[in-house]
Amino acid sequence: MLLDAHELHISYGDIRAVNGVSFDLQEGELVSIIGANGAGKSSILNGIMGIVPLRKGSIHFDTDEITSLATHQRAKAGIRMVPERARVFPRLTVYENLMAGAYGLRKRIKIAKQIAWLHDLFPILKERNNQPANTLSGGEQQQLSIARALISEPKLLLVDEVSMGLMPKLVDQVFEVLKQLNRDHGLSILVVEQNAMASLKISHRAYVLETGTCVHEGRASELLEDPKVKEVYLGH
Ligand SMILES: Nc1ncnc2c1ncn2[C@@H]1O[C@H](COP(=O)(O)OP(=O)(O)O)[C@@H](O)[C@H]1O
Ligand SMILES: [Mg+2]
Repeated sequence: MLLDAHELHISYGDIRAVNGVSFDLQEGELVSIIGANGAGKSSILNGIMGIVPLRKGSIHFDTDEITSLATHQRAKAGIRMVPERARVFPRLTVYENLMAGAYGLRKRIKIAKQIAWLHDLFPILKERNNQPANTLSGGEQQQLSIARALISEPKLLLVDEVSMGLMPKLVDQVFEVLKQLNRDHGLSILVVEQNAMASLKISHRAYVLETGTCVHEGRASELLEDPKVKEVYLGH
């Protein structure tokens, strides 16, 4: 098991955002957690990254318990997150944004190789290499945010609501890249999404989250056919 999250509880004061959610992810899997706005998806990713504390529960990564590690130690262990709303540095260039993801990667040659690979994967970033990130469109900023997370070759990529604010065509493009990274590069990916259809289509397995509780789990292909999931999450 690459990631094993057991009985996670996360609260903000009196607000219980996540109430005993358990899930796991094998190496090479693409898993989604789908749920409406406010269901607790970002809290779960922030909990895995150590950005918000757990009230209860445990997290194992790559056989080690990481529950009490600091965020930078989890990053060093190989977990990277693409946060909600891309969050690129607006005034830094595309190149500088990419380099910001390379901390801990000391070897210059390695960085050059990674950048060449990312430029292949996201040609627009090569084209816009020296432009400030705020001149990119929303979809391009999402690509930059994903590329920045990938530069350090994570073992696990956490992706928070990458579809938010994107036009349907761009949603498909970004999800296609995630699928490709998983299928062709063996990258393990945990996606959290309100866009159930788009994320189920590229996932192996999924968990359905409702107000901080997991109410369904299963193979993505089965969830796509599940009458209740269809009614509530797929809009038919
Ligand atoms: N920093 C915070 N302070 C107080 N409440 C929060 C905070 N972050 C999230 N919440 C609350 O926790 C619940 C889950 O939020 P969140 O994890 O952001 O859900 P999602 O990502 O699925 O939209 C919501 O009720 C939200 O209002
Ligand atoms: Mg969120």
